Amino acid sequence: MRVPGCGKRNAEIFFCGEFPGVQESREGEPFVGRTSRDFNKHLLPLLGLRRGDVWLTNLYREFVPDGQTYDKEQKARDIEELREELAAVNPRLIVPIGAAATRFFLGDDADLDEVHGILWRDPNHETRLIFPPAHIAAYTPE
Ligand code: URA
Repeated sequence: MRVPGCGKRNAEIFFCGEFPGVQESREGEPFVGRTSRDFNKHLLPLLGLRRGDVWLTNLYREFVPDGQTYDKEQKARDIEELREELAAVNPRLIVPIGAAATRFFLGDDADLDEVHGILWRDPNHETRLIFPPAHIAAYTPE
């Protein structure tokens, strides 16, 4: 199933991963799978937030099983959809989840190992901030 972004239309915080996982693809919602457990159960509540208070999305809209590749034109269409979401939500803060999303928002040279944990100004927006954490899955115990 295609997994579009979801959440609050004018959310201040915009979380963006790379691809939906298998569970996301079943439910049609981003960040509902096992690697997002701590994110949903602990991080959001700790921040006093619910899923419906933020925007949750991915660079690409479809789960890609191991060994399969994603169509290039489909990727371009997905990115266009992401740009539309970003313009509609107009968040104050973007939290890119993972290396690909971090490069998308901070530029191709951004190396997650070097840039994570630092609050950046959005190179493409006057007042927006970008805070890349280390990937949420890196912290999720089995
Ligand atoms: N779930 C998503 O929807 N995206 C990710 O990047 C990771 C987990």
